[in-house]
Amino acid sequence: MKEITPALRTEGVKYAIRDIVLLAEELKREKVEVLHLNVGDPIKFDFETPPHIIDSVYAAMQKGFNGYGPSLGVEEAVDAIKSDAQGRGIKNICTVFICAGVSEGIELALAALLNRGENLLVPYPCYPLYPAVLAKLEAEPNPYYLDEDKGWEPDLNDIESKINNKTRAIVLVNPSNPTGAVYSQETLVNIIELARRYNLMVFSDEIYNDIVYDNKKSISTASLNPDLPVITFGGMSKVYLAPGWRLAWGILSGESETIKKYDQALQKLLRARICANHPEQFAIQPALQGDRSHLVSMMERLHRRRDITYRRLNSIKHISCVKPEGAFYAFPRLDIPISDEEFVKKLLYETKVLVVHGGGFGQHPGTKHFRVVFLPSEEILNKAFDLLEGFMEKHF
Ligand SMILES: Cc1ncc(COP(=O)(O)O)c(C=O)c1O
Repeated sequence: MKEITPALRTEGVKYAIRDIVLLAEELKREKVEVLHLNVGDPIKFDFETPPHIIDSVYAAMQKGFNGYGPSLGVEEAVDAIKSDAQGRGIKNICTVFICAGVSEGIELALAALLNRGENLLVPYPCYPLYPAVLAKLEAEPNPYYLDEDKGWEPDLNDIESKINNKTRAIVLVNPSNPTGAVYSQETLVNIIELARRYNLMVFSDEIYNDIVYDNKKSISTASLNPDLPVITFGGMSKVYLAPGWRLAWGILSGESETIKKYDQALQKLLRARICANHPEQFAIQPALQGDRSHLVSMMERLHRRRDITYRRLNSIKHISCVKPEGAFYAFPRLDIPISDEEFVKKLLYETKVLVVHGGGFGQHPGTKHFRVVFLPSEEILNKAFDLLEGFMEKHF
């Protein structure tokens, strides 16, 4: 038989966060212990899914909710998501849908909007799923830059200069993966103004919404303008510590006449994939409306880890880092003569510290960064930063 050739569209699919893990796995096979500062999965560290939400899934299975569920999601979960969104100031909610992770929600939301060759404004640096999904749809990422000198806030002039007649929407990741920035109300209002002027839909990825430091407030974009067509994404993976359940939601809001046809198309795609994971959906109401005390101890630990990360990185020569205000990532800048990809590989082989290179998220040409996940314990973080410091002193 002739060799089976994959579709050309797969060539554009890159996901640096997992691709780099292949290198670490080689080391693991040789029984070398790797310090993982690369993966945004709290369960891999000392965080646990709250027991009451685990119990609610068991209970749902025991009650027999093991068949297919409704395409948009089970009623009590949809209602809980809706009232949580209203509590965050989102009005004009048209449709709430539950999906297998924000990852699936993004695929469906983008598939319902973009034709081949159209483009989506995507922040650089960005969580790499967006460009990967666009490659599958044969649509284009249209990068706008986040401004490192302004705490990684979006650069409004850059956004406006990138809009063309094939631009359909803009993505906001707030709080941000990979920079940890939390956008100001002023920035969001200005982006909304641009979106209205150019008829752009907004995809606001707010999966880290309750993970913010220093009394910062993470504002839902949709809450600032009830008429703007927005899908707000949230989910169980980060705030509710259940990433393996693959459970999330999208909230479509805006003026109903403007979004009616899009909503119908999106719902068609939601029906075509039958439903999201059914029994897990019974955890949503207890998570959003029940005991949320896990967040207090989680935030205490994360706050200390954020402070260590920020302090230690800025004390290392040739590294500088903007203070993360939300999520659990830092995106330090490197001032070194080799590429950030080479840096990450060399660091891994020599010190067994695993981080992801900035190029995997997109960055200003000529700049070099890497992403640090500060979910590990203080002890592991300090050990990793000691090794990083020694590595930098030795080589640069
Ligand atoms: C900004 C952002 N959006 C979406 C996701 C994926 O979320 P989910 O686990 O719900 O698919 C992640 C995962 O790291 C993320 O950082």
